[in-house]
Amino acid sequence: MPNVRQLLQFKANGKKIVALTAWDFAIAQILDAAGVDLILVGDSLAMVALGYDNTLPLTLDEIIHHAKAVKRGVKNALIVVDLPFLSYQTSTEAAIQSAGRILKETGAQAVKLEGGHPRMIETIARLVEVGIPVMGHIGLTPQSVHQLGYRQQGRSDGDRDRLIQSAVALEQAGVFSIVLEHIPADLAKLISEKLSIPTIGIGAGADCDGQVLVTADLLGLTLKQPPFAKAYVDLRAVITQAVQEYSVDVNS
Ligand code: KIV
Repeated sequence: MPNVRQLLQFKANGKKIVALTAWDFAIAQILDAAGVDLILVGDSLAMVALGYDNTLPLTLDEIIHHAKAVKRGVKNALIVVDLPFLSYQTSTEAAIQSAGRILKETGAQAVKLEGGHPRMIETIARLVEVGIPVMGHIGLTPQSVHQLGYRQQGRSDGDRDRLIQSAVALEQAGVFSIVLEHIPADLAKLISEKLSIPTIGIGAGADCDGQVLVTADLLGLTLKQPPFAKAYVDLRAVITQAVQEYSVDVNS
């Protein structure tokens, strides 16, 4: 089972990190048996499993419930759980309580949180100090959808500089890895080369140290996919056909 320190070795050895999201027992079991290195119980489960319009309504209790099911399906992969919107932004104390609940109640090894501004850096440093491994997440941060939309980030010179500074500050605060979401490939490459911790890209080009996708997008389960997500199978069509065949059998 890779732990957060071994992920650093992956980067040192030039081995790419294969990461995917999971939200229940069956999906987690399949991903783990297929050899995925890191399973993220992402707050995208709000949309792909619970039918919300965005990630904001998801509660800490809901993600803990799903993370426990994922944990029961995983033997090898490192499990990282997202801190939901407003479970960590209000104070460092709130972040420690929320992240602590995730580690204690789910058995996951680490948490992920969004943002790289100075207040968040302070919070992350404190989480790391109390022994909670933290993964950062910058670029397109879906919890800020009402400010940023789902647009690509890091296009202007100012925005590029801000993202580079955030990445460096996150590494200094002690995160073990950073998700780079929907930023230009050359910027993701530059950040990945600058840091000694691994970057995990989603819509950030091929030069990150690993890649993550929302598994529902990879499987063709979602109706609206982000422009950078590749569906490797059309499970909606496969399931529809299976249900129709079943229906025919029942009726005959
Ligand atoms: O919630 C999620 O699935 C994520 C990935 C998009 C990285 O944060």
